[in-house]
Amino acid sequence: IAAPVITIDGPSGTGKGTIASLLAEHLGWHLLDSGALYRTLALAARRHGVDLDDGAGLGRLAARISVRLEGERVRLDGEEVSALIRTAEAGVDASRVAVHPEVRQALLGWQREAALAPGLVADGRDMGARVFPDARLKLYLDASPEERARRRYKQLKDKEMDANLPNLVQELRARDERDRERAESPLQVPPGAVIVDSTELSIEQVFARVLQFVDADL
Ligand code: C5P
Repeated sequence: IAAPVITIDGPSGTGKGTIASLLAEHLGWHLLDSGALYRTLALAARRHGVDLDDGAGLGRLAARISVRLEGERVRLDGEEVSALIRTAEAGVDASRVAVHPEVRQALLGWQREAALAPGLVADGRDMGARVFPDARLKLYLDASPEERARRRYKQLKDKEMDANLPNLVQELRARDERDRERAESPLQVPPGAVIVDSTELSIEQVFARVLQFVDADL
């Protein structure tokens, strides 16, 4: 029997990850941060000297490595890489590997295996449209690009990482474009999804709104 799934899709910087994590905790369900898988594969590619434009090579690499998500922690072949995959560069690399059909196919299995009892909250770009088309509830978080860049800036500064706001706006626009324009599983509002625009909302307000939909549904 398949476990129930709630999907949260949307562009980066909308608070998806935070909301997914709060919701998983609230429900006592598993959490899948699918972006972490793309980020980790990109890191592995850099280390193994596989070109980020080589879809077939990346697909083969994905079959050879072990990527484990343990809560917020990520392991690549046993080594914890959580901090390494959270940089802005890792996000750009992730969006480059994510355009290849061979990569998306390889990661499909990893993602579906995460749908375990009592349930799964999955966040990403194609969770509702492709990976979990039968999800119980599909949410789509959106926000203006300027607001999203500002949030990312604050996030990086809080972690004492290097950040430059104009660069972030530019990178975010490039990443959005790549995610929306790609042929394979582009970022889109999945059919039947509930849209929440978080531009003017705090995380607490977004979570309260999300809980209304969840309570109405479960
Ligand atoms: O969500 P996060 O910023 O970690 O995702 C990094 C990149 O991975 C995204 O910009 C996107 O290109 C890719 N991604 C994807 N499909 C997903 C999750 C992430 O293509 N389900």
